[in-house]
Amino acid sequence: MINHPSITRTVALVSSFMLATLVSSVAAEPVGSDLTPKLRGLLIKEMIQVELAMHEVFSAIVQGRHAMVAEKGQSIHDSFIMAQSLTDEDRQDLKASVPPEFLQIDTYLHELSASLAEAGHAEDTPRQVELFGRMTETCVACHSAYVTDRFEGLEASDVPEEWGLAPEELD
Ligand code: HEC
Repeated sequence: MINHPSITRTVALVSSFMLATLVSSVAAEPVGSDLTPKLRGLLIKEMIQVELAMHEVFSAIVQGRHAMVAEKGQSIHDSFIMAQSLTDEDRQDLKASVPPEFLQIDTYLHELSASLAEAGHAEDTPRQVELFGRMTETCVACHSAYVTDRFEGLEASDVPEEWGLAPEELD
């Protein structure tokens, strides 16, 4: 009875509908325009600094300049929006304007940059290379989910779901 063609078709239809609903409910939206002008300004400033520091870290890693890796890892860590002198109100505005996943990716990048500073101090080049890769994944994971209005080229990119997530957040 369960193999009856119309039942099979109905089941298939219902499941594809459920799948479509599921996919659309997790699809992320651009966040930039939801931020207060002050927060958006701070975020853009932070992004420009982070990108510059990433370029410098890359050069330092491939040339074995460990002290520079440590310094720039630390500066990425310190430039974070959540770590800046935001008022309580700004902090609440931020939490209200972005989904929890956005803050989760931001926190993970924060942790990775602290680890990168440590790997610089430890003069551990393989670990530096690994962390640099993890950090790059977080940039792409966040931009491809939340900045597709500006970075259209990332909209259709098939980013692995573990990118941007700390290992303990993966089940
Ligand atoms: C948690 C999310 C998140 C992460 C992680 C993230 N970004 Fe961004 N980034 C944004 C958002 C949101 C914007 C767009 C801000 C806007 O236009 O309002 C942005 C914009 C930018 C910009 C454009 C700045 C400008 O000139 O307006 C650069 C460059 C950038 N990010 C670099 C990086 C790099 C490099 C990394 C990784 C090391 C990174 N971002 C990680 C959210 C993120």
